[in-house]
Amino acid sequence: MRVDIVTLFPSMFKGPFEESIIKRAQEKGLLSIHFCNPRQFTYNRHHTVDDAPFGGGGGMVMKPEPIFEAVEKIKEEIKPSKGKVILLSPQGTLFNQEKAKELAKQENLILICGHYEGVDERVREHLAEEEISIGDYVLTGGELAAMVVVDAVARLLPGVLGCENSAKEDSFYSGLLEYPQYTRPAEFRGWKVPEVLLSGNHELIRKWRRRKMLERTLRRRPELLKKVKLSEEDKKLLREIKDNISEFEGKEDR
Ligand code: ADE
Repeated sequence: MRVDIVTLFPSMFKGPFEESIIKRAQEKGLLSIHFCNPRQFTYNRHHTVDDAPFGGGGGMVMKPEPIFEAVEKIKEEIKPSKGKVILLSPQGTLFNQEKAKELAKQENLILICGHYEGVDERVREHLAEEEISIGDYVLTGGELAAMVVVDAVARLLPGVLGCENSAKEDSFYSGLLEYPQYTRPAEFRGWKVPEVLLSGNHELIRKWRRRKMLERTLRRRPELLKKVKLSEEDKKLLREIKDNISEFEGKEDR
C-alpha cells in the first residue's frame, strides 16, 4: 500500500514510522509512505499556508490552494489513483477497527492533516472523499491522527505482522475485547496464572478465552455486544456470565 501524507510538519512522523512493525513493513516493501508539504505550493514571500477566516472570529484557517495542489501533484504521481483522499479532523466520522479493515483494502491513501482552527471548507467539499476523527477530543493538528490511522491500517496488510493470525485475535477484530493473556512465570509475586491455561486442554482453553472475551466486553463495552454475531455457545456463556455477575463484586471472574 502507498500512503501519501499532506502535512506542514513531516518531521513529526519520524519517530513513529521509523520503528518496529511500521519500519519493517516499509523495508519489506509492503508499505510505502510519502510526504508532501503544502508549503511547497505557496508562491508569496512568506509561504503563507493560512489566513484569517472570512466573517471574522479568532484563529487562522488553512488556505485551500496549497492543499489542492499538493493532492493534485500526488494524484499525478500515482496515476491512476485508486485510493481515497481522507481529511483528518475532529469533525469526521469516528475511526474504528471496521474502518481500518476497510481502508486496508485500498491500494493507496492520501491523508490530509489539518492545522490551526481548521481547513477551508472547500477542501472538505471538493477534495476529501472522507473525513475521519480518531476520537472526541481536539488535537493540535491531524498529524497524530494520521499516525494512528496508518498504524492501525498497516498492521492489517497481509505479511506485515509476523504471524498471520495475530491481527485476527485482536481486541475488536471480531467485535469483542480480547481475553487476558499470561506468560511465564506461572506464579509471580503470589499471583497465579489461571489453572486452565496450564492444563493443556485446548477445548477448555478455547471455551475459557471465549467466556473471558464475552465477560470483558459485557462489563467494559456492553454496546459492542449488540453489533457482533453471537453463536449459540456465546449466548449460553453470556447467560451464565449474567447469572453470576452479582457474585463478582466488581472483579472479573477467574
Ligand atoms: N485533528 C484535530 N483533532 C483531531 C481528531 N480528534 N481526529 C482527527 N484529526 C484531528
